Amino acid sequence: MTADPAVVADALVLAVEDGLRRRDHRDPYLSVRAATDTHRHDHGCWAYPYQDGTVLGAVAAAAKPARVLELGTALGYTSCWWASRGAHVDTIERDPLHVQLARENIERAGLRASVTVHEGDFDMVVPSLTGPFDLIFFDGYEPPARLLEQVTGSLREHGVVVTTNLDLGERRARSRLGSADGWSTRFVADLALSVRAPAAGRRP
Ligand SMILES: C[S@@+](CC[C@H](N)C(=O)[O-])C[C@H]1O[C@@H](n2cnc3c(N)ncnc32)[C@H](O)[C@@H]1O
Repeated sequence: MTADPAVVADALVLAVEDGLRRRDHRDPYLSVRAATDTHRHDHGCWAYPYQDGTVLGAVAAAAKPARVLELGTALGYTSCWWASRGAHVDTIERDPLHVQLARENIERAGLRASVTVHEGDFDMVVPSLTGPFDLIFFDGYEPPARLLEQVTGSLREHGVVVTTNLDLGERRARSRLGSADGWSTRFVADLALSVRAPAAGRRP
């Protein structure tokens, strides 16, 4: 029997909240985060690292993804966090300097075998990757209006799309994600967790 995505999403949120309460706040990748802040000042880019990787650690512990697709590598801070919980991560970045620095940081963190950095635009790279992924993390500035549609084909049934930067730009991401047809979205910390309904269950 196929589980209702709302039930899957509710169970996931409960597990994430529990994980957030119990988490170890130490961050083994703090140096990558700090290097990203320094790089941003020098480079004049928008490589803002995610605020606290331990939150992603709690999501990974709850969702237990074997394969993660990440949109927005910057210098590899969040890639390291997903990989540290046992996932293989395919991460996408269009800035060649970010790609080079991310590869160096990931290598230094001892995670080279667990992370593949793909250079290019999300729109070009996502369709070229072979899914399905268990978890897709969007951290490329403001979430695009068609984010869930764009990644649907890459996500396994009952997989989860984790979206951050919900309050950037037009600040419409929460309402879009919350009302997307065929998805159940819940909000926890500064993230949206969107679980996909099985194809047969979607409205035409
Ligand atoms: C907010 S930063 C990612 C931060 C990273 N996840 C971390 O926590 O360290 C967004 C990154 O996405 C990249 N990016 C933004 N839009 C993109 C696109 N359409 N295709 C590929 N990369 C993109 C930017 O170059 C930037 O490095």
